[in-house]
Amino acid sequence: MSFNWCFIGTGQIAKKVAKELVTNPGHAIVSVFNRTKAKAEKFAKTYNSTVYESALDAINDPRVDGVYIATTNETHFSFAKLCLENHKPVLCEKPITGNTKELKELIKISKENNTFLKEAMWTWFNPVANKVRQWIKEERIGKILSVDCIFNMPIFGYNRAKGRYINPSRYGGALLDLGVYSVRYVYELFGKPKAITSRGKLYNGIDLFNDSIFEYGGFKAHVSSQINRLVGEHCIIKGEKGTIKVPLFHMASKAVLKTKEGKEVFRDKKKKFATQFRVVAEYINGEQENKLVSLDSSVEVMELMDEIRKQIGVIFPCD
Ligand SMILES: NC(=O)c1ccc[n+]([C@@H]2O[C@H](COP(=O)([O-])OP(=O)(O)OC[C@H]3O[C@@H](n4cnc5c(N)ncnc54)[C@H](OP(=O)(O)O)[C@@H]3O)[C@@H](O)[C@H]2O)c1
Repeated sequence: MSFNWCFIGTGQIAKKVAKELVTNPGHAIVSVFNRTKAKAEKFAKTYNSTVYESALDAINDPRVDGVYIATTNETHFSFAKLCLENHKPVLCEKPITGNTKELKELIKISKENNTFLKEAMWTWFNPVANKVRQWIKEERIGKILSVDCIFNMPIFGYNRAKGRYINPSRYGGALLDLGVYSVRYVYELFGKPKAITSRGKLYNGIDLFNDSIFEYGGFKAHVSSQINRLVGEHCIIKGEKGTIKVPLFHMASKAVLKTKEGKEVFRDKKKKFATQFRVVAEYINGEQENKLVSLDSSVEVMELMDEIRKQIGVIFPCD
């Protein structure tokens, strides 16, 4: 299948995914826009793409089948809106927007223009996360007793100078950057909780740390993320009949199921960004049913994140 992508943004994630994307047979990056043109030109050289002066010109390159938005969080809404109004299918980096209000507005525009929109929540286009969900559904560990899902990376220290992580007007903070994965993981496995209790540590109006208990009636899930300490990343699910452990769950290459019967390890070594782009291209082309990372699920995750922010006192200009 041939599929031509337009890239808006050529920062670190764009560079990382581009390398994998072009390993998909038939996939190419034909057009590029970046705020700083020199960086777009450097990027475009590698992929033989055309650089445009504006995002509008880039998405309207007649060869473009879909647009990938890889700019910073606070710009997702306006770039996605531009694409949808111009009938260009969109795959937008996480978090798809700053809050539910922005996301619902995008979904409205997407419906009015009958144009595809999807959050690039790559974890859930990949087999490991979906295998874990299958184990839970099949009740391989029986009645759930507890869940611990944490994602911590000291990006505050590494990128302090950059500022976007610690700026509420840029939709910064641990929750929107890392927590979007831990909230999504627990949501995909167990749905919306009955209640949430959250606490956080704020700095400059953003959360360096957030820590929530999701109440599921029968068990609790501990869902946490932080950008100021390296505590690690895992999801551990304990049940009456066993345990599931997923190290580095957002990019997991393996999940381990332990029960009385023994140990089962599910591994997936495939390129995870490549898989996401292949699946999304097939959805856009109508070659398979558009199932994973639905817009409804993005709305529900965004509602959970809005609630956590409300409880810990993080406010964005879009609120
Ligand atoms: N899926 C993943 O694993 C993953 C990993 C990391 C990040 N992300 C997400 O990807 C997005 C980008 O993150 P990153 O780490 O790649 O950031 P980055 O390296 O800082 O790159 C940011 C990009 O956004 C552009 N940009 C910034 N402000 C802009 C503005 N006001 N208008 C237009 N363009 C603007 C930058 O353009 P200039 O070159 O002109 O500065 C650059 O292209 C974020 O939403 C982040 O949450 C996803």
